[in-house]
Amino acid sequence: MVRRIAVVGSNMTDLVTSIIRMPAPGETLEAPSFFMGFGGKGANQAVAAARLGAEVMMVTKVGDDVFGESTIRNLQDNGIDTRHVAIVEGQSSGVAPIFVDESGENSILIIKGANNSLLPRDIDAAAEDLKQCSLILLQLEVPLETVYHTIEFASRHGIETVLNPAPAAPDLDTAKVGKATFVVPNETELKLMTGLPTGTDEEIETAARALMARGIRTVIVTLGSRGARLVTAAGSTIIEPLKVKPKDTTGAGDAFIGSFARYYVETGELEPSLKKAALYAGDSITRPGTQKSYATAEEFEAFLARGE
Ligand code: RIB
Repeated sequence: MVRRIAVVGSNMTDLVTSIIRMPAPGETLEAPSFFMGFGGKGANQAVAAARLGAEVMMVTKVGDDVFGESTIRNLQDNGIDTRHVAIVEGQSSGVAPIFVDESGENSILIIKGANNSLLPRDIDAAAEDLKQCSLILLQLEVPLETVYHTIEFASRHGIETVLNPAPAAPDLDTAKVGKATFVVPNETELKLMTGLPTGTDEEIETAARALMARGIRTVIVTLGSRGARLVTAAGSTIIEPLKVKPKDTTGAGDAFIGSFARYYVETGELEPSLKKAALYAGDSITRPGTQKSYATAEEFEAFLARGE
């Protein structure tokens, strides 16, 4: 049986400027280069999974502008089912100005635009197709009501869910996401969700267990260059990162989640899928851009074979 993945989430056009440093207020500064790319946490995760060969459908909204048209075309070019991608009249598409410094670190602004119009009724409209999926990926660049509604819907129909609570949302009601199968926060998001410190390994595990006490089965905390920590009822283990010199870390978390989803739906194995996802995300940060840094299945297999 083909196991399909659905992404209920955002899309953005990334406007990426490489910088030496951020200008001070009132200062004009020349930056070395600029490019546009496809982004948005939802679309990034969808594209990573699809490039690795998964069957993916996306539920999202774009504006009635040139970014919207090219976003739909890009999803289709990546083999993603766009029957539930709608155009919102009179709205701009989501846009993300991104600044990447010489160490590969990024600062991101998001203008959600049409992503704000993805509502619970759109999930109901896609219900029959969502029921054909075995895993649904969610992030927080669309209204929280839609995220809660989708988790509830998925749980009712026995569909597993991955909630990536990014970007950090102070008004996220953790009581309403307890039915998510996997929650994948970074340290900042975990701290915000639990009100607990996340400065040490012990604190991270304690905070993850506090989330699990609210019903979540598995917590995977992404730790940037330190890899990720998997916390389940059975124990806690570190997922080692790939040691590389980063060019651009933008979208690495999305590469990790999208590739994890692709391997997990195929095998049902948690830790091996996370280990492969850490390699996929590590490979992606050696190239600039968000989606454009994501390898195809062939490229990733070749990379694994080289054993870099
Ligand atoms: O996670 C990276 C993504 O965050 C970027 O592609 C940008 O669009 C923002 O959504």
